[in-house]
Amino acid sequence: MKTLYEVMDGSSRDKEKLRKAGEILKAGGLVAFPTETVYGLGGDALNPESSRKIYAAKGRPSDNPLIVHICRLSDLEKIAWDPDGKGLKVARAFWPGPLTMILKKKETVPLETTGGLPTVAVRFPSHPVARGLIDAAGGFIAAPSANTSGKPSPTSARYVAEDMDGRIDMILDGGDVGIGLESTIVDLTEEEPVILRPGYVTQEMLTEVLGSVSVDRTILDAASTQRPKAPGMKYRHYAPKGELAVVEGEPGRVTLRINELCQKAAAEGKKTGVIAADETAPLYLADSVKSVGSRADEEAIAHSLYRILREFDDEGVEVMYSEAFPSKGMGQAIMNRLLKAAGHHVIEA
Ligand code: TXA
Ligand code: MG
Repeated sequence: MKTLYEVMDGSSRDKEKLRKAGEILKAGGLVAFPTETVYGLGGDALNPESSRKIYAAKGRPSDNPLIVHICRLSDLEKIAWDPDGKGLKVARAFWPGPLTMILKKKETVPLETTGGLPTVAVRFPSHPVARGLIDAAGGFIAAPSANTSGKPSPTSARYVAEDMDGRIDMILDGGDVGIGLESTIVDLTEEEPVILRPGYVTQEMLTEVLGSVSVDRTILDAASTQRPKAPGMKYRHYAPKGELAVVEGEPGRVTLRINELCQKAAAEGKKTGVIAADETAPLYLADSVKSVGSRADEEAIAHSLYRILREFDDEGVEVMYSEAFPSKGMGQAIMNRLLKAAGHHVIEA
């Protein structure tokens, strides 16, 4: 399959490109597009055949449900039940934006899209290209992140092309994304709302709107570097090709330990990489040292994490060590993704 590649440059021709992309989606094709979080791989959410194609293109198991993207608040009730109004409350506070809610699905949404579940994940993104595309496609786009299953989510169209060229009909290039980590997912189907995936919209922000909100147990464990889980392929997501471990402890010791570990790997002939904050990056001796930004700037860290993991892949780095980062607020999302990328391999400095 030849993949069409269109750059969205803010010119008057963008409208025509969106119209063409919308036609592809309506005909059951697949189009990758930018959102404010990461790039999505879109298909018509109400067409079971499109969802099947998404799973095939990503190499993703078909019991892992997709998020349905909408571009009008009034479309929420066409696909989901919101018996107690929690959905509307959350929508009014955070949409359009990086927040996905889980609600009971209506008949309109095929089980192929929800991975066989009676619930549906819904998100109203804020990115203008995403909104324009959803509208052009008829209002409902099912879209996972546009990476091959298991790899870091793409934060620019270049990485989408790396994974998806020849497998989908079209890529809309809207430049680098803003946030860089996937949306927060909150499950509203239980008595107490539960965060299933931390993101830019934090537990504190959701609690303000909903009263009490808990965080899924497995995430709490994953975000706490105090209680590292055994590494296992089952948990390896967002992963680079090389081996990654997170080193935690008192800052001075972390630097020493990482340098020691790099030296050892280098002696074994392996190419080494380090992920560090601006403040400590100059202290490392490795083949490739990458800074995620200032330790105090969570948004910068979120923005650069996936790009850095992909850059290490491109450079053929075989062994990587990362500093741990503060896991409060949006830091919870950062550590959640970093630990998943590392297969929960944590080293005490
Ligand atoms: O920021 C984002 O959310 C991006 C952009 C493209 O919108 N999308 C994204 O999709 O990250 P994906 O498919 O990579 O991640 C969706 C997550 C999966 O972990 C899936 O298991 C979960 O949402 N999910 C979807 N529907 C669900 C449901 N009904 N119940 C529980 N989890 C669900
Ligand atoms: Mg994904």
